[in-house]
Amino acid sequence: MNLIQSNQDYLQQYKNSVEDPEKFWDEVARDFVWKKKWNKVLEWDFAKPSVKWFVGGKLNITENCLDRHLKERGDQRAIIWEPSDPKDAPKSITYKELHEQVCKVANMLKNLGVKKGDRVCIYMPMIPELAYAVLACARIGAVHSVVFAGFSSGSLVDRITDSGCSAVLTTDGASRGGKRIDLKKIVDDALPKCPTVKSVVVFDCIHSKPPMQEGRDYWWHDVVNSAPSVCPAEEMDSEDLLFILYTSGSTGKPKGMVHTCGGYMVYINYTFRTAFQYKEGEVFWCTADLGWITGHSYILYGPLSAGATTVIFEGIPSWPDMGRFWQAIERHKVNIFYTAPTAIRSLQLAPLSFVEKCDLSSLRVLGSVGEPINEEAWHWYDENIGKKNCPIIDTWWQTETGGFMITPIADVTKLKPAHATLPLPGVQPAVMDENGKELTDNGVEGRLTIKFPWPSMARTIYGDHQRFRDTYFSTFPGKYFTGDGCKRDDEGYYRITGRVDDIIIVSGHNMGTAEVESAIDEHPSVVETAVVGYPHDIKGQGIYAFVICHQKPDNDEGLRGEIRETVAKIIGPIAKPDKIQFVSGLPKTRSGKIMRRILRKVAEGELSNMGDTSTLTDPAVVEEIVKGKL
Ligand code: PRX
Repeated sequence: MNLIQSNQDYLQQYKNSVEDPEKFWDEVARDFVWKKKWNKVLEWDFAKPSVKWFVGGKLNITENCLDRHLKERGDQRAIIWEPSDPKDAPKSITYKELHEQVCKVANMLKNLGVKKGDRVCIYMPMIPELAYAVLACARIGAVHSVVFAGFSSGSLVDRITDSGCSAVLTTDGASRGGKRIDLKKIVDDALPKCPTVKSVVVFDCIHSKPPMQEGRDYWWHDVVNSAPSVCPAEEMDSEDLLFILYTSGSTGKPKGMVHTCGGYMVYINYTFRTAFQYKEGEVFWCTADLGWITGHSYILYGPLSAGATTVIFEGIPSWPDMGRFWQAIERHKVNIFYTAPTAIRSLQLAPLSFVEKCDLSSLRVLGSVGEPINEEAWHWYDENIGKKNCPIIDTWWQTETGGFMITPIADVTKLKPAHATLPLPGVQPAVMDENGKELTDNGVEGRLTIKFPWPSMARTIYGDHQRFRDTYFSTFPGKYFTGDGCKRDDEGYYRITGRVDDIIIVSGHNMGTAEVESAIDEHPSVVETAVVGYPHDIKGQGIYAFVICHQKPDNDEGLRGEIRETVAKIIGPIAKPDKIQFVSGLPKTRSGKIMRRILRKVAEGELSNMGDTSTLTDPAVVEEIVKGKL
């Protein structure tokens, strides 16, 4: 199908996609290799909810990401790996090599007894073997569950046990920003609580010689190198599970979002090529980690299914210096660069000479993802990185949506700073007021919902379909509720205003307040906690914790440090609270509900008007909290 090339094309294709979605997606899906064509494009019922795309179709996504490229571009680079330490040499992996490596890992998994439908946990740093591992699972139809290698052993236990993984793929350790992380030790700490895990395969990454458990642990080089390099791709139904990826919820444990094979493949490829207007032979760099949906969709499956060259970066933007991104763009002649506002804001503070020293002339398109990009960061990115020559593609989407939903299309959509702009074809947003009425005019503000299915939407929460229904389909019956607020301006452009639930977006990562609260409560000195988000210059939002202790602490700073460490141990360092205020009580209603509205105002520094506090059991507590604001 022809890609959108002009605004007129966009309007026409958008119209077609709404008037006859089945016809529209039927045409898009013809561009792929199917083992058997679908019988029906779509079956859906948001009341259940149940959504099926390309019903009866059979495929394997890796044939579309690997095999089909071998003839035309077998010797083209599929992956460029940029190591953590710039003194180490980068590595290129061609499509032919990638195909071979994936087949080897796939055969190794089979040798370990992993079968179609089994769940495999992947807990690895950003090295090429991580990509091989993910694709190898897809090759044999095992369901991958990638866990970000910054998560703690407790988080790993939750994720492994929830999905019943039978194997874990990891490394001895990782080096991130010059620091060493012992991943195998974290896995070893987790596994006594994970009875389903039968085998662990360890890639020797930093040569740290961790202890290996006989009969359970295998060195990657022992079991992969000897495996055959040909492995037929398992035939998967369109609706078979491709992967599970955990994301924080506003209450309870993280949710294992389930994505399936057919619709995901079609949509991720279509959105990658459309939004960035990808051109044959270009080098694409998405700086996310493969542990997040951005990495799944737009480091691996999108670019590889399009035959692009994708960059995998092991490091962090600030090490060994603040020029790391710009040096790597120059080194690899990157054409499309896709990063997060939090990275832009932190790099914007460094001397401009870091940018000026590098040749960024290869850049054609820039992207942003993860949180609303503020205007200042948008302009800095536009002027200094894009040299006012590269459109900024501000992609709004979610783990649950699988792929881009509202985003400009490069060189097609008229841009507006800090606006995700317009829905892609196939995406039908509806803005709702608090009473559940759809606001159909332009120039409105409300809650963002989607009223029609799109191919890559999550199908369920692993093991908890009721929660899936309650979280996404019950607030506005008949519609998918995103949890985000938005404005639609007079031109119909969307601006995402942020979460309207108890999720905080810290440096682009979702954090459930309930999850952070229960981690803080694990500290023996803590009685109760309430956590809210507050505006943070670099991270977008920071975590502000109001904590009640058994006794007034003798050493506030010492206890703050201990609480932060407790959170790092239970969830991971990304969830450490930025501010911890000790309080003697929390503002609660008579029914015992914490009035977060008040805490949010305090955390945001809006101290003058607390609104109506008459329903609180102890209004005096508000005064104390205001006085003690950090
Ligand atoms: O609040 C929105 C914000 O990130 C949330 C989704 O987070 P996650 O599932 O971790 O996926 C992140 C990568 C897609 C959304 O509900 N968000 C994401 N992108 C944007 C954004 N907010 C505003 N503008 C964006 N471009």
